[in-house]
Amino acid sequence: MEKREQLYEGKAKKVYATDDPNLVIVSYKDDATAFNGLKKGTITGKGAINNKMTNHLMRKLAQSGVPTHFVEQLSDRDTVVKKVSIVPLEVIVRNISAGSFAKHYGVEEGIVFDAPTIEFSYKNDDLGDPLLNEYHALALKLATREEIDLIKKYAFAVNDFLKSFMKGIGIDLVDFKLEFGKTSDGAIVLADEISPDTCRLWDEKTHEKLDKDRFRRDLGGAEEAYEEVMRRLMGD
Ligand code: TMP
Ligand code: ASP
Repeated sequence: MEKREQLYEGKAKKVYATDDPNLVIVSYKDDATAFNGLKKGTITGKGAINNKMTNHLMRKLAQSGVPTHFVEQLSDRDTVVKKVSIVPLEVIVRNISAGSFAKHYGVEEGIVFDAPTIEFSYKNDDLGDPLLNEYHALALKLATREEIDLIKKYAFAVNDFLKSFMKGIGIDLVDFKLEFGKTSDGAIVLADEISPDTCRLWDEKTHEKLDKDRFRRDLGGAEEAYEEVMRRLMGD
């Protein structure tokens, strides 16, 4: 399968057409951004790691009953996925307080919740991805009631799988962001990526951050952190 014209360039990936109208190729970049693109940089090797990690996890998720857009990995950075229209909701699941949750509610990071939380942001860079609830999402016709219910069910299923998977490699899954897409036949599938760009991952013993917060917060060692997660994941 070969790349045809570029359809889209996002902050971390490019999307290309293929000769099959139902398939596209995503190509992962080393570019890193934070704070809605205000902070820009590079995490060398990140594209290949995020590509391989996402595909590894999506294969396992499909086996555990969560449908995904994944079709076939082509190379280190390139993967064939189903062409979907992205539901413009960022779906965030949290197990431990951190990031914007800690900031919004004035609590420390690291509080372990009794049950996971879920929240939605409207995926709209011009508006800065504002938080919204399900009623707002329905009012804005971003998705139907049935689609929102399915998205919540899949998001919690991803959390159940990913939390125990990460625990198995000595990592606490703090929180993560998912995006879903709609295929040409109307099915809701998990899309985008699952990587240290989109998850907070803390070493279970040292609590060292093994994710993009190393870049967001100028902690240094982002490359090494991504490599460490990849190394553990491949030996799982
Ligand atoms: P937050 O605490 O900043 O709201 O982030 C929650 C999770 O979502 C965290 O794992 C990082 C991820 N995330 C993204 O993947 N993309 C984004 O644009 C933002 C703001 C967060
Ligand atoms: N990638 C996102 C941006 O640049 C934010 C983030 O992951 O922190 O807006």
